[in-house]
Amino acid sequence: MDYEEPQFFRVMQYAARADRDVVDMVSGNPDWDPPEGLRDGLRDYAEADAADYQYPPSVGLTGHRDEIAARRGVDRNRVLVTNGAGEANHLAMTGGLHHFDGTEVLLTDPVYPYYAGRANFIGADRSFVPVAEDNRLRPADVRAAASDETAVIVVNSPNNPTGAVYGADAMAEFVAIAEENDALLVSDEVYDHFDFSGRFASALDADSPNVVATNSFSKTMAITGFRVGYAVFPPEDGPTGALLERARTQHMLTNVAGSRPAQYAVTRALKTTAPDYYAACRRRLERRVDAFCDALAEAGAAYNRPEGGFYVLARFPDFPGTFENVYELIDEAGVAGMPGEVFGESRSDWIRFALVTPRVDEAAARLAAYFE
Ligand SMILES: Cc1ncc(COP(=O)(O)O)c(C=O)c1O
Repeated sequence: MDYEEPQFFRVMQYAARADRDVVDMVSGNPDWDPPEGLRDGLRDYAEADAADYQYPPSVGLTGHRDEIAARRGVDRNRVLVTNGAGEANHLAMTGGLHHFDGTEVLLTDPVYPYYAGRANFIGADRSFVPVAEDNRLRPADVRAAASDETAVIVVNSPNNPTGAVYGADAMAEFVAIAEENDALLVSDEVYDHFDFSGRFASALDADSPNVVATNSFSKTMAITGFRVGYAVFPPEDGPTGALLERARTQHMLTNVAGSRPAQYAVTRALKTTAPDYYAACRRRLERRVDAFCDALAEAGAAYNRPEGGFYVLARFPDFPGTFENVYELIDEAGVAGMPGEVFGESRSDWIRFALVTPRVDEAAARLAAYFE
């Protein structure tokens, strides 16, 4: 089967091989510390009984699912713990494609490339709804694109790469569109703790049998290497209850189970981390957004000021977001971003910068000097 390999590692490798200092703004790996409770949990785990070194329940540790269920306001039974949001998205998308009649996955342009690659990989037809100039995803555009052929609609808010946050009205519309077309709305909410707008709304608010919400602790707790995420499926006794059972089986056949120590440590962190931790992480990013965007403005670049998430899209005069130009910036400016063309046609003139480095000011100064 033909599928596209996401290109992040290609650029990261190029940057690592460069024979000069490069500010890495390619991938979404947080550069800050996880909550202290996470380290405490890990330390304790080292001394755990031999039994705790064995398989956890395939659906995830019960206490871990309880913490998630309480936060999401759902029954524990609906929570399936996965190897990151990546697996949660995979289970939700394959489940929707299998469960509903259509053969199409509806995505946005620009799109987080893993969705597009995955849709191809699982043999779905793909259709892309362009987001508006202001980076909003208009419900009317999604409605016009959805049809009987649609099995799955994937949305992501706060969005990678646009930084858009979809408010309650838009989210309710996306849910309604999935229901009207007998399709599944997969709502990827991994950046929910990084909402600068105060407008973030979860698709779970709609309480619909046509919604799977996915999330993870990769970004929230700065632990992309731990691989702990989850999906909240519709209730088992509802009209789409089969989605959950199928996802559990697929998860078990693929992974047997997730990582027990990682889930244990995250559970400890969930129990012990005060809201200040999350607020401080959000404020740190907001400061970086301000500094980077101000510098881009001075450099004469167009840019989006994100409403949430880690990323800024920038467009420099006569400098489209190709791999060639991104390599040029690595070699000549010492700043590595991601070519806009990997996110789809609509942002192919743009370059995406991840603000997960303390060197945001320096990167902005280097870009300004290069484009002077
Ligand atoms: C929109 C989006 N979804 C999912 C992921 C992957 O998350 P995880 O590490 O939990 O698999 C990322 C990572 O960058 C992302 O940007």
